Amino acid sequence: MTDAGFARPKGETFEYAGATVELLDAATVLAAARVNPVELLRRATWPEPVQRVDLTVSSADRPGGPVHTFAASISTAEEPLSKERIRKLVLGNDPVGLLLAKRIEAGDPIATRIVDNIGAAAAAAYKKLGLDRPAQPMTSREPGTLADAVVGLQAELTYDETGTVVRLHAEVPRDDVTPAHLQAFVGLTLQAVIELAGPESLTGRRYVVSRENVSKVPATTQTVTLDMVGGLADVVAELRQIAVSFRHPEAMARWGARRPQGLLMYGPPGTGKTMLSRALANEIGADFREIRTPEILDKWLGGSERNIKQIFRDARRYRVPTLMLFDEFDSIISYAGSGGDAASQAINAVAGIFKQEMNDLIEANPNVIVVATTNFPHRVDDSLIRSGRFDVKISVPKPDDASRAEIFRKMIQGLIAAHEAPGFQMFADDLDVGALATASHGMTGADIKEILRRVQLKKAMQDARTGGRVDPITTDELLGSVRELLGPR
Ligand SMILES: Nc1ncnc2c1ncn2[C@@H]1O[C@H](COP(=O)(O)OP(=O)(O)O)[C@@H](O)[C@H]1O
Ligand SMILES: [Mg+2]
Repeated sequence: MTDAGFARPKGETFEYAGATVELLDAATVLAAARVNPVELLRRATWPEPVQRVDLTVSSADRPGGPVHTFAASISTAEEPLSKERIRKLVLGNDPVGLLLAKRIEAGDPIATRIVDNIGAAAAAAYKKLGLDRPAQPMTSREPGTLADAVVGLQAELTYDETGTVVRLHAEVPRDDVTPAHLQAFVGLTLQAVIELAGPESLTGRRYVVSRENVSKVPATTQTVTLDMVGGLADVVAELRQIAVSFRHPEAMARWGARRPQGLLMYGPPGTGKTMLSRALANEIGADFREIRTPEILDKWLGGSERNIKQIFRDARRYRVPTLMLFDEFDSIISYAGSGGDAASQAINAVAGIFKQEMNDLIEANPNVIVVATTNFPHRVDDSLIRSGRFDVKISVPKPDDASRAEIFRKMIQGLIAAHEAPGFQMFADDLDVGALATASHGMTGADIKEILRRVQLKKAMQDARTGGRVDPITTDELLGSVRELLGPR
């Protein structure tokens, strides 16, 4: 199973008014925009008088539900009096001017000095007369609408007070947004550029619309999306459903339905439970609040009980959608320590309070959804689940062959998006994820991450020692890393 060029961001190329536009991995751009604004086209160069275009995709909450917002600002503010402009002003179009211009071009120092000195004086005079700004930079400053015929996207067009910045703004409900909308908005932005720079101004130009430097963010912040999960298609689908029900309380209320309030995810370590919780928070657009065991368990008598009460007291006051994660829940509330010692008694007391608090938390605060994860479901008090406090139980199993292939594929895609740059290829074109999946039988997503981490480190060290020139990562090198992690059999 070898597919050449695998895992490179999928590009979509289209023509617009003579320009070639390449749209890289639009789906990822849209997914990322839910979490953090994504900036596009910042490094591109534009025809005069356009100096700069900032295109941002982000997400916002509207009374009707969450939306993706597309915003472009097209800036024409030019440096008021550039040397070139002054020279043009001074020299004009008469024979003497043309002669001087030729001398300057030929590098004649005297002609240059004369003209620039006159220019400096002229510039000062121009400033005094208030003529140093372009008189009427925009042909029309009427606000209006630009519309795309294919997907019917409409963008509002406005001008800032100085008349040198044009802004475009469009919104699409989050559940409806597609890559075609992004493409349409890029088209409208180019249309606005053409209105400023002239009909032929984009001919022969090439623009790449991609996540530029923003894709390096995930390494430092916790931006994980459901699209990054490999395998587990049913689990991901279920979490998407839950997110929809959370985001549409009015629909739930109309039908007297109740959205899930507590989720219990269970399965072996390293299968992605923590990752899924974070991704669900992002899918909902909720704040993520993880409650760690040390935050609760306190060696002092009564301390743990106070802590857990305080945590729920806070939770009742969250004013924004919040996902509370009790990760490795069994270590907080489990039967494991049901002995008579003080520590077990504390845990049992905590479990009691937890049950009580969970009873009416969601009624008290519809902004909250609770997720608990555990590697040991049998250790979790059954009554927590039976009572309906956790109304959704999700099994997160170890990945099968096909799922491991997908995990490899998605992780490698993520690394490519984050680290590859013109002139630097991280992975060979002909990676065989099928072979990797077969070789890594029995491993989890966490193991696969470790396999990649080791190869990355090896390559980086090689790079550091040799000063560059290191070949992209091959299937064989990855297979070596798989074997290394398996250890001697
Ligand atoms: N199905 C998966 N798809 C993609 N990445 C995964 C998957 N499972 C695990 N991972 C990777 O392994 C890391 C550790 O998984 P984690 O969510 O901590 O597992 P768990 O909480 O079940 O022990 C994750 O951050 C992610 O990078
Ligand atoms: Mg975990």
